[in-house]
Amino acid sequence: MANTDIEQQIIKLRKEIEAHNHAYYVDNNPTISDFEFDMRLKQLESMEKAYPEYFDKNSPTQRVGSDLTKSFKQIVHQYPMLSLANTYSEGEVTEFYNRVRKSLNTDFDVVCELKYDGASISLIYENGELAAAVTRGDGVRGDDVTANIRTIQSIPIRLCGDFPSRFEIRGEVLMPFAVFDELNREKAENGEPLFANPRNAASGTLKLQNPSEVARRRLDSYLYYLLGEELPAETHYDNMMAAKTWGFKISNAIRCCRSLDEIFDFIRYWDTERRNLPVATDGIVLKVNDLRQQRNLGLTAKSPRWAIAYKYQAERALTRLNSVSYQVGRTGAVTPIANLEPVLLSGTTVKRASLHNADIIAGLDLHIGDMVFVEKGGEIIPKITGVDTEAREAYMPKVVFPQCCPECGSALVRNEDEAAHYCPNEDHCPPQIKGKILHFVSRKAMDIIGLGDETIALLFEKSLVGNVADIYELKISDIAPLERLGEKSAQNIVDGIEASKQIPYPNVIFALGIRYVGETVAKRLAKAFPSIEQLEEATLEQLIQVDEIGEVIARSVVDYFAKEEHRQLISRLKAAGIRLAADEQPGHISALLEGKTVVISGVFAKHSRDEYKDMIEQNGGKNSGSISAKTSFVLAGDNMGPAKLDKAQKLGIRLVTEDEFLEMIAKQKD
Ligand code: IVH
Repeated sequence: MANTDIEQQIIKLRKEIEAHNHAYYVDNNPTISDFEFDMRLKQLESMEKAYPEYFDKNSPTQRVGSDLTKSFKQIVHQYPMLSLANTYSEGEVTEFYNRVRKSLNTDFDVVCELKYDGASISLIYENGELAAAVTRGDGVRGDDVTANIRTIQSIPIRLCGDFPSRFEIRGEVLMPFAVFDELNREKAENGEPLFANPRNAASGTLKLQNPSEVARRRLDSYLYYLLGEELPAETHYDNMMAAKTWGFKISNAIRCCRSLDEIFDFIRYWDTERRNLPVATDGIVLKVNDLRQQRNLGLTAKSPRWAIAYKYQAERALTRLNSVSYQVGRTGAVTPIANLEPVLLSGTTVKRASLHNADIIAGLDLHIGDMVFVEKGGEIIPKITGVDTEAREAYMPKVVFPQCCPECGSALVRNEDEAAHYCPNEDHCPPQIKGKILHFVSRKAMDIIGLGDETIALLFEKSLVGNVADIYELKISDIAPLERLGEKSAQNIVDGIEASKQIPYPNVIFALGIRYVGETVAKRLAKAFPSIEQLEEATLEQLIQVDEIGEVIARSVVDYFAKEEHRQLISRLKAAGIRLAADEQPGHISALLEGKTVVISGVFAKHSRDEYKDMIEQNGGKNSGSISAKTSFVLAGDNMGPAKLDKAQKLGIRLVTEDEFLEMIAKQKD
């Protein structure tokens, strides 16, 4: 096939995939099966790999994200990002309506929309391409999170139809409830703090330094405000409809209302209907439709006079606080749980509510027996938002956070800057031991089938296992007599234990349950320290040098291996035959970079940072994190940090672009 034909074929395939993406993510109306879609995407990936000369950063294959520098560039908003006046009262909606009527002194329409509860974003499009995506920040300037936004499938990277050459569109980035639940489940498994609600999860995700992790979190979006010098229409509603034809996800929950009655119909309808939506909403936004009328009404310092947000009351119930119990998790975090007199709240009976930590209890000044307000917002677990102090009797005792672990009696500790109390007795506190063993055998760790919650509890109670190394000494005769088990189950468990000796090294690191070491961090550690001995000896500084590993994780790893008990555990695992080293690394391809020290900086389009690191090592070079007189050259991507750029220039160190580097290496191969 001639090269131009190939290029045409690649372009055609990209267009086709973009159209399927739009049908799936924006219209919620898939046009082909997931399988067929995957096949097309794979075909495009392999063609792009075979013909890198047709690389396009806007290709649908590039949405998976790449590596990025450590901090975000700031961008000043061309139009400041204002907020909206808020109200919870229908009376104030009427007042808003009457105020507008008086001020305009003529007929007007009000567009009603849902108020989405996520992270606000401003997208700038130039010549039909996404040029930048900026967070609200302080309203005047925000963070440039373009690389992360590019991973959101419902945000078009390239537009279709008849769009202005330059405009901004604002909206909300959202984490669907289902993704939020899954993410928190994973976080709990990794012993990481949970996100309180989908809004925090969405804004936290936008600030991640690793776009591939952002991609994995499947964020969604709704756009609701168009700005620019050449807009297609003179009304907000028509502008939204035009934006829809360009490819944006504009909610169908939008109505142009001619009267207050129509506005209240909309408000009341969505009060219940919004519960069926996959994303969080917390009210209705009312906007004067005509842009000229909007300009006449003008702005206050903080918000426009032509719009108002009506917020729904979170559902609330009043019930009695019977007691507070304290749960100790796998990582030793102690979570207070309120035990309530059962009460009906938005269709479910609530018996328990999370109290999160000691500060929350103190802030509420809780007493046992108090009548408390329970609310269900975007969170899954209801929370206590207030106390009816009038109903308090003098005899009711104050809730005091315990000083000792309710499970093992150890004195609790609280780290600076952290709200949670921890039981430090990580190796001997029963729920922590059982939690660590359960984590060790879980699917993404050692994947030992048959050892569930109950069996582990039984083995622990019978003193057959007290840590993860004990698992490898279990015999059929230990397991078979346990309740609900038997010879056959025991045999299966022992087989599973034997098979786990083949589990790869990165999974083993994850399985150890070191605080903050989730699956991804474990992979990075395994790569940087290919044997457990190297990891055991790694210093804080060496750990921080590893991509994506900050001080908190590094310290946790150092602390883990500093304990003699853990070192002994590892040597017992080693003796049992667990894989505690990486497979052989591929040998050197060339000596092209022999004796050279390379610093990688910035964002790359064709390969990830890790891939470039590998290429440097495979060609005999050394990677370094900081520029010094010893640096041979900087492999420089886009958005290289200003401090690094400055230093490289001062020291006269050459900047090599991604393409130059790839050419350099390709020549060597020839
Ligand atoms: S319009 C100048 N429409 O609520 C007004 N905002 O409290 C521009 N929001 O900053 C905003 N849904 O983050 C608008 N349909 C909607 C919205 C909406 C959610 C958020 C947005 C805004 C905040 C104001």
